[in-house]
Amino acid sequence: MSDQTTGVAPDGETNVPHPTDEAGISVAVEAALAAIEAASDLNELKEARLSHTGEKSALSLANRQIGKLDKSEKAVAGKLVGSARGRVNKALSARTVVLEEAEAARILVEETVDVTAAPRRRSVGARHPLSVLQDRVSDIFVGMGWEIAEGPEVESEWFNFDALNFKPDHPAREMQDTFFIEPADAHLVLRTHTSPVQVRSMLQREVPVYVLCPGRTFRTDELDATHTPVFHQFEGLAVDKGLTMADLRGTLEHFARQMFGEEAQIRLRPAYFPFTEPSAELDIWHPGAKGGPRWIEWGGCGMINPNVLRAAGIDPEEYSGFAFGMGIERTLMFRNDVPDMHDMIEGDIRFSQHFGMEI
Ligand code: PHE
Repeated sequence: MSDQTTGVAPDGETNVPHPTDEAGISVAVEAALAAIEAASDLNELKEARLSHTGEKSALSLANRQIGKLDKSEKAVAGKLVGSARGRVNKALSARTVVLEEAEAARILVEETVDVTAAPRRRSVGARHPLSVLQDRVSDIFVGMGWEIAEGPEVESEWFNFDALNFKPDHPAREMQDTFFIEPADAHLVLRTHTSPVQVRSMLQREVPVYVLCPGRTFRTDELDATHTPVFHQFEGLAVDKGLTMADLRGTLEHFARQMFGEEAQIRLRPAYFPFTEPSAELDIWHPGAKGGPRWIEWGGCGMINPNVLRAAGIDPEEYSGFAFGMGIERTLMFRNDVPDMHDMIEGDIRFSQHFGMEI
């Protein structure tokens, strides 16, 4: 009888009831039902399923023994073990439904989104008005088919001065204007204007050349309301056959109207730059100026000096060109009524936000 109550599984495990042992099977079923009931979540239920219905469970092992029984016992054993397994499976399914519902309810509660909660605010920041203005200027020229060119901020004295027809004793080379890079015999400077990009562009590109060169420039000025030692310029350069002062004027007029509105006008006053001849100061009639429309000095311009064309390997008998250069800070000051340069460079986000993303 002891063989009947405990049973011996083929792999030697004990506690396997004999398939006709009603009491033994009942013990296995009760144990299974208790474990299923005790499972408090789907993971625990999975473990209960494995140990009570898995291959090595008492009921499965008992079931496996049926095949070896005498014909007379087979029917009884089949019915007994079959209904035992049926009860266990039914209990498993029922518990699965209960626990799945509990799980869904838990997720609903735990992952609730409170749509009335105050959002965590993060400020997105804004692009600096100088960058936005620089892009705007670039866009206007790209719209006319010009290209954008850039050059290094640490520039050789040759590009910054010599190639632009500055004589060796020109006052702009003196220490109070120019940041020289040590050692002095390296002949490097922080570029004092964007004009060296003119020469670089002519050397690097095939004529005709139409480029706009925006960039950072440096002069040994003290920071005050209208000066800063680091500032930005944009340089325009056109080299082609037959360009005249009229082309320069027309280009600048179009540009001024794009920037300041249709009523904007320009005025050229004779001036001197070593790299242009003739040269002019460019004034703009700013219709929206604070305190009423007026003429404002905007930048320099002129026809490229033949010496500069020659330094860039271009024959001045065949080609002519014009150039102009303006300060971006200065443009922002009078275009958008920024009275103090400090605001532009101190990096206070409120200044940028005041302009928003578009100026
Ligand atoms: N480079 C000059 C400056 O910084 C401006 C300029 C550019 C003048 C091009 C004439 C032609 O003042």
